[in-house]
Amino acid sequence: MHKITMLGTGLIGMFYTMALHGNRSADRVHTVYSRTEERGQKFAKEWGIPKSTTDMRAAIEDPDTDVVVVGLPNNLHEQAVILAAQAGKAILCTKPLARTAEEAKRMLDAVEKAGVFHGYLEDLAYTPKTLKALQSVQNGALGKILWARSRETHPGPHSDWFWDKEQSGGGAIVDMGCHCIEIARNFIGKDVRPVEVMCWADTQVHPIEAEDSAVGLVKYASGAVGQFEVSWAFRGGMDLRDEVSGTEGTIWLNHWLRTGFEMFTAVGEGGYVAEKSESSTGWLFPVGNEPDALGYTPMFLDMLDSLDQGKLPMETFYDGYVVNAIMDAAYRSATSKQWETVLLDDWRGSDDADAGVRFTEYDDQHYLIKEEKMPDGRNKLILKQKSDGKVIQKVQ
Ligand SMILES: NC(=O)c1ccc[n+]([C@@H]2O[C@H](COP(=O)([O-])OP(=O)(O)OC[C@H]3O[C@@H](n4cnc5c(N)ncnc54)[C@H](O)[C@@H]3O)[C@@H](O)[C@H]2O)c1
Repeated sequence: MHKITMLGTGLIGMFYTMALHGNRSADRVHTVYSRTEERGQKFAKEWGIPKSTTDMRAAIEDPDTDVVVVGLPNNLHEQAVILAAQAGKAILCTKPLARTAEEAKRMLDAVEKAGVFHGYLEDLAYTPKTLKALQSVQNGALGKILWARSRETHPGPHSDWFWDKEQSGGGAIVDMGCHCIEIARNFIGKDVRPVEVMCWADTQVHPIEAEDSAVGLVKYASGAVGQFEVSWAFRGGMDLRDEVSGTEGTIWLNHWLRTGFEMFTAVGEGGYVAEKSESSTGWLFPVGNEPDALGYTPMFLDMLDSLDQGKLPMETFYDGYVVNAIMDAAYRSATSKQWETVLLDDWRGSDDADAGVRFTEYDDQHYLIKEEKMPDGRNKLILKQKSDGKVIQKVQ
């Protein structure tokens, strides 16, 4: 059982507390930090939390707690993590780990030097559908992964600081691209080196310094490509979808809109529908259990079980650092309009991932390109002659 310090009483502080206190859990948020006394006390009362304070250091150093959860705006992650590492606490930090890879590396160094447990709270790698899909991919159901596409779009974030580049570190890429990049990395394989990035980013609608929309391609040493698509200008709710393609199969995941719960109401649902839902009448797509569907519940299970068992969780600060390095390359590419190298001073994966394409042998003289059953029942084989590279077809 753990007693937890929760830093932040905003949207994520609420979701995290809901997930931590769910399912008759013995783990409890014991102390909460908020900038204002009124908000802290209201949050504490609502969630049955014994202590609230407006002093971040005091919350972190509370001798009654052993775990610190960081749910503050991005520019405050480093300060909170350094204080928690100095206090010798286990630290769980929300996404993005930091605003840049440089900042993320300082945080990684701090937790490793202090020897404390660290978890990167990348909830979308933990949705029940993603966990099941990852298991299938790891079992080889899709063969060699070629392409992982991940999309997160909605009408824009709910607080001022997200829109201010200084505090957030960037726009839709830093806010949501971090999810998409880590989802793709999980499918492609964390041991495989991300090599370079090509990215378009712009503000299409909003008067902000950062991007409200972006599309990026991340090339991996295995030859696989991770594709991220993010927008704060999408209308119609929150669209969370992933697609994974391999030599032997495909997975499509839809996590939010159109998940099988569809409802029409002329008069309104009478309350909250789902995160970033844009309407409360007409056709609605409610979500049965948000902390589960968004991965918060399985994520905290992995984090706290791993802490108890003295092992690394699925998502660590190192993963957060790699994601930041990929996002840094995306920003450089959006400016240079060139492929930009992912700069990783500290690479812990494999360096000999096989990028080589393996062709399927048909016989001694041919490679098989394609086989297809035609509408008239005949079998068509498209072959490449090894001797001269000529492409031919055989109909059987
Ligand atoms: N799916 C996810 O994992 C997910 C979802 C949403 C947010 N987040 C992350 O959680 C963090 C917080 O986001 P949020 O949505 O809860 O934001 P929010 O604006 O709803 O809440 C932020 C909290 O920080 C406090 N705060 C703001 N400025 C502060 C300051 N200068 N000093 C001290 N406290 C301050 C606010 O009062 C509030 O309690 C961000 O890093 C964000 O990227 C993660």
